[in-house]
Amino acid sequence: MGWSKEHRLAQAAGEAETQETRYERTFNDMRPWLPKEVTNFLDIGCGTGGIAIHVARHYRHATVHLIDGSADGAPRAWSTDAIAWRDVNAALGAFAKHCPEIAVRAWPPDPELTIPCELIYSNCSWGHHYPIETYLGLVVRSLKPGGTLIVDLRLGEHAQHGRAVLARHFEPHATIETNGKKYMRTVWRSFTIGGW
Ligand SMILES: C[S@@+](CC[C@H](N)C(=O)[O-])C[C@H]1O[C@@H](n2cnc3c(N)ncnc32)[C@H](O)[C@@H]1O
Repeated sequence: MGWSKEHRLAQAAGEAETQETRYERTFNDMRPWLPKEVTNFLDIGCGTGGIAIHVARHYRHATVHLIDGSADGAPRAWSTDAIAWRDVNAALGAFAKHCPEIAVRAWPPDPELTIPCELIYSNCSWGHHYPIETYLGLVVRSLKPGGTLIVDLRLGEHAQHGRAVLARHFEPHATIETNGKKYMRTVWRSFTIGGW
């Protein structure tokens, strides 16, 4: 699933987006919608952790929680050089290398977990590659009152379904512009009563 030679050449010429610029752009796109005060946040399907590092640096003192695929399962994703990664160790390694001062905790992809947070987000993962139902319970239990949820919903039926399901539990807040992408980036707020 590596990128085409043309894309690599365009990247080398500075004409196409690299992973690093995508991480930064994704963070910048989400930034206006991020809560002011965050002590804990969760990235579902964090991949190599590039976006979480931007979010963590933004908050500086927040504890970072990361969920990604299991080390025991089949590979679920590939980096741009076509190497499979299976678990959060790639992201933990990136945090250890680039920002060892930040508190980070890795979790298995267990939908039964509860991880209290003021911010939960998932870029191109939950609601995009697998059903919104997968972590719905975890997120409903975990998002604190007044907290913010950002989810990329795969366009088409999945987005319609995802919106309908999320709207039963969260208040719709915004849709972030993602022109030409296969998903819509949706922003939600937890209701201030109930849940947690
Ligand atoms: C397209 S990548 C996106 C990675 C990262 N969010 C980003 O935007 O750079 C999708 C990620 O979802 C993870 N993933 C797939 N199924 C998952 C599951 N059931 N639970 C948690 N993560 C999962 C993959 O391992 C992969 O890291």
